[in-house]
Amino acid sequence: MEGNSLLHPAGADLKRVITPQLIFAIRRKYDLDWTGLHGVRHWARVRKVGLELARVTGARTNVVELFSFLHDSCRRGDGHDPDHGRRAVGFATQLRADCLELDDEDFTLLCEAIEYHSEGHLGADVTVQTCWDADRLDLERVGIQPEPHKVCTEAARKMISRTRPLGTSLTPLGTRT
Ligand SMILES: [Fe+2]
Repeated sequence: MEGNSLLHPAGADLKRVITPQLIFAIRRKYDLDWTGLHGVRHWARVRKVGLELARVTGARTNVVELFSFLHDSCRRGDGHDPDHGRRAVGFATQLRADCLELDDEDFTLLCEAIEYHSEGHLGADVTVQTCWDADRLDLERVGIQPEPHKVCTEAARKMISRTRPLGTSLTPLGTRT
């Protein structure tokens, strides 16, 4: 798969949750540029940052990983698209039987995280908050520096506080600066 090297952050077994079967289904579904603004490069970064945050927040990592690859999968454009979260919940529901190994509780969290991820909410279960923060921390790709009061978790705020000037990457938690 093109861009495969983007999908292997150190120490994480990508294929355990994000299976080739799931990637195939998402790729067939995704209408936009696969490596564009809301495509696989963004999803890989959201996954990597989400797993980093989850080590601190205790979020359920399987939900965080699936959120990263599904939350923007049903966009119809890279601009304003207020229903893309709701469409992605429908897509996740279609995929559940064949591609997603989640119990009912985790699936409910995944759907909440996906449906409301672009509405700016702060209050939710910590797994949902971690998903939202991972997505918001990747706003730098569109020239928007993440703001501490717009993320949900202390772990995300710490990551922002360690961020160097706009245009550089977020510093992972635990990295000496
Ligand atoms: Fe996103």
